[in-house]
Amino acid sequence: MGISNCHNVEDFRKLAKKRLPDGIFWYMEGGSDDEVTLRSNTTAFDDYALVPDALVDVSNIDLSTRVLGVDMALPFYLSPSGGTRLFHHHKEAAVARAAAKAGIIYGQSTMSTSSIEEVGAASSGPKMFQIYSLKDKELTRDFVARAKAANFDALCLTVDSSISGNRERDLRTGLNFPPKIRLSTIAGFASKPRWLWNFMLNPEFTLSNIQSDALGDGMNVFELAHHLMDVSVTWDDAKIIRDLWDGPFAIKGIQSVADAKRAVDIGATAIIVSTHGGRQLDGASAMVHRIAPIRQAVGNKIEIIADSGIRRGSHVLKALALGADACSFARPYIYGLAAGGEAGVTRVVDLISAEIERDMGLLGVTKTTDITGRHVVRADGLPISQDAHP
Ligand SMILES: Cc1cc2nc3c(=O)[nH]c(=O)nc-3n(C[C@H](O)[C@H](O)[C@H](O)COP(=O)(O)O)c2cc1C
Repeated sequence: MGISNCHNVEDFRKLAKKRLPDGIFWYMEGGSDDEVTLRSNTTAFDDYALVPDALVDVSNIDLSTRVLGVDMALPFYLSPSGGTRLFHHHKEAAVARAAAKAGIIYGQSTMSTSSIEEVGAASSGPKMFQIYSLKDKELTRDFVARAKAANFDALCLTVDSSISGNRERDLRTGLNFPPKIRLSTIAGFASKPRWLWNFMLNPEFTLSNIQSDALGDGMNVFELAHHLMDVSVTWDDAKIIRDLWDGPFAIKGIQSVADAKRAVDIGATAIIVSTHGGRQLDGASAMVHRIAPIRQAVGNKIEIIADSGIRRGSHVLKALALGADACSFARPYIYGLAAGGEAGVTRVVDLISAEIERDMGLLGVTKTTDITGRHVVRADGLPISQDAHP
C-alpha cells in the first residue's frame, strides 16, 4: 500500500505504523498516563454538530485566512514537532517545503533535527519558530536572534512542557535520545528494514539547534526535558521573550480563560489553545471544549489557534465555528512524512484541505471568516453554553 491508497488521516496513520519501528511510532502516537486527554481531544469533536445554511451559492470557496501576520491559503498550519529525523531522513526541510507549497505556516521546534538556519534556507514559505524558556537564558536569547536572522515570520513560546508528561510507552519501548541500537531496541528497528536502512545511511540524528555539550547522551524524554527546561518560568519570563521578538508572537499551550487574558495583557498576537496533543497533563479538558469560553472572554483582542486532536476537515470547521481563527496539528503530517516523505505530507495537507472545501460547500459558506457560532450546536441540539468558565 502506498500513499495514493490513503484517503484520510486514519489511512496514513495505519501506513505510518507499518513503516516505523514500534518504539518510534509509539513515541509519536502516544500520550501521557492513561491517554484520556489524547483520546478525548479527537472524540470530543463529536460533542458538537454543524448546522448548515441551505441554498447558498458555493461556486467559489475561499479557504484562506490570516493569522500571525501571515496570509495563509488554508485555515490550518503544521505544528512544531521535535525529532523529525526519527520519522523520515528528509527531516524538517521536507515538512517546511510541503507547508510552503501549500501556502501555510511551518512550525519548527526547538527540538528539531535540522537547524533554524537549515530550515530558513530550505523554505521561503511562512515559518514560525517554537521556543521554550530554557534554564540557559543566553541560549533562549540566541534562538530568538537566530530565528530573526533566518527570516522566520513568527515566534511561539510553548508553556505546557517545562515538565515532561509521563509517557509510559517510551519507558516500555526504551526509546532514548539520540536513539541507539541496543539490545532493547534492535528487534523493533530490525523489523522495519527500510526505516533502518535510511536511518543508518543518512546523516546522524542530532538535535541540531542545541550544542551537543548542552545535552546529556542516552536520556529518555523526561530526563532530556528536566535537563533543559526552566521549571520556574512565569508570565514575567513570557513577557521578556515577547519583548525580545518584535514580530507576531504566540503562546502555545493555553487552556484557561484567565491565562488567555494574561496572554492579551503581555501583548501576544495569538494563543494556541492546546493540550500538546494529550502528551502533557493527562485529564486536561479536551482542547475543543476550551475554544468557545476563551473566545467569549477575550473577544477579538487576540487570535485563537486550535491545536490537538484535529483529524478531519469537519473538525477544523467546528473549531472555527466555536471561535478559532485557524487550526494546527502535528500527528497527521507526521503520519504523512513517515509514510511517504515530503509527498506524504503534501497528500495529507491536500486531503484535509479537500475535506474543508467540500464541507464548507455543504455548510453553505464561501469564506472561512463566515463560519460563526450559528453554524454549531451541541451534539444533543442545544446551543453552546454561555456560562462562566475558569
Ligand atoms: C512527536 C511529537 C513531537 C512534538 N514536539 C513538540 C515540540 O518540540 N514543541 C512543541 O511545542 N510541541 C510539540 N509537539 C506538540 C505539537 O506541536 C502539537 O501541539 C500536538 O501534537 C497537537 O496534537 P495532534 O498531534 O493531535 O495534532 C509534539 C507533538 C508530537 C506528536
